[in-house]
Amino acid sequence: MKNVCITGSGHVGLVTGACLAEIGNRVICVDNDTQKIEGLKKGTVPFHEPGLEEMICKNVKDERLSFATSIEQGVKESEIVFIAVNTPQKLNGELDLTSIKQVSQKIGRAMVNYTVVVEKSTVLVKTGSLIKRIIKSNNDNNIDFDIVCNPEFLREGSAISDFMQPDRIVIGVENEKAANIMAELYRPLNAPIIATSVETAEIIKYASNSFLALKISYINAIANICEKLGADVTKVAEGMGYDKRIGQEFLNAGVGYGGHCLPKDVSAFAKIASQLGCNFQLLKTVQKINNRQRRRIAEKLSAVLQDLDGKSVGLLGLSFKPETDDMREAPSIDIIEQLQQKGAKIKAYDPRAINKARAILHNVEYCQNPYQAAEGSDALIIVTEWDEFKKLNLLKIKELLKEPVIIDGRNIFDPSEMRRLGFTYQGIGR
Ligand code: UDX
Repeated sequence: MKNVCITGSGHVGLVTGACLAEIGNRVICVDNDTQKIEGLKKGTVPFHEPGLEEMICKNVKDERLSFATSIEQGVKESEIVFIAVNTPQKLNGELDLTSIKQVSQKIGRAMVNYTVVVEKSTVLVKTGSLIKRIIKSNNDNNIDFDIVCNPEFLREGSAISDFMQPDRIVIGVENEKAANIMAELYRPLNAPIIATSVETAEIIKYASNSFLALKISYINAIANICEKLGADVTKVAEGMGYDKRIGQEFLNAGVGYGGHCLPKDVSAFAKIASQLGCNFQLLKTVQKINNRQRRRIAEKLSAVLQDLDGKSVGLLGLSFKPETDDMREAPSIDIIEQLQQKGAKIKAYDPRAINKARAILHNVEYCQNPYQAAEGSDALIIVTEWDEFKKLNLLKIKELLKEPVIIDGRNIFDPSEMRRLGFTYQGIGR
């Protein structure tokens, strides 16, 4: 059992804190957002993540998990301090390390005993040495500490299971002492631990996420070839995926990747590479394909409906992926803006993300259910593959639509079934 402090109570910080408490540690989650902390103390989580609210309430009740706004209090009581603050992207693609620097300064001032400071946020390579320098220069009592890089591989919508059953745990350390403390912390998870240098651990994170994005852009490029050939990309992906060296995962063609991580990590990695004098052209192509993929929906719709000006378009799915309400870099944002630029009127529905979408997308009619989005519309578009859309009553949808047109941005329907039902159906790569 260890005393742990998590600085930054966002997606990564809260999941990490709740799960570390769940496996028996005493955890204090800190954030400078007083309103968020007050809400968390009452058991309200400011975003949707399956299972997280229950896990937080249980561990707060068992007094293993608590919340505070003061880093000083959290650091004083803890042997391990995680830095899980956000590292947003600047307009020029570089990461904004302001929060990392501020938190490192406060940790340096607050330490009273030997502390393992864990870099959990996705950061640039060499940030470990930056954190070390800042802590050292704010550590007047010259308290001993070590820096560890422990990147997260959590997917939104499955973050709890990704934490509790990780494929691997990556620990970037500078000495045995810190390595042993982290191995002890993660022992209950019984997962393979990759112990390496801090810089190597930082690269593993970027290399992993960029490879996932590459896989997605690769299958989307194949999808565009399939459309010209009349082939079916879902079958191509299936045929490829049986090869264990390729695998079935992350070969779903669609409107492309979004979210808080993949877009940011790919552009940050490309930037890091060019700053190191390596032109990572491959990643730039991954980004180009992804940006282009978002335009495919408006292109397909224009091909079917000709002029979109004044047309009513039903759109299902706003969040960047199912099982989350997260709208960050969601493909729906670009897709809706492109359709509105062509004069289309949007009627949108999403099971969870409408509240967050309202703050970003305007002149959109937000609907209570998918059928309301279809009612009187000239076409229906699928942007996020929520399970409930796979179970739609398609005959009812057809009746409600002015025109039986469906553009399936996530290939959730079967083309032959849709054509048998009398729809003008377009998928991606089929
Ligand atoms: C990702 C990484 O998977 C995770 O390891 C890292 O820690 C954080 O970033 P996340 O962004 O939460 O996780 O979701 P993920 O499931 O990776 O999906 C990212 C995007 O790719 C989504 O927009 C999703 O719709 C898209 N995607 C995913 C595809 O378009 N096709 C696929 O086959 C898989």
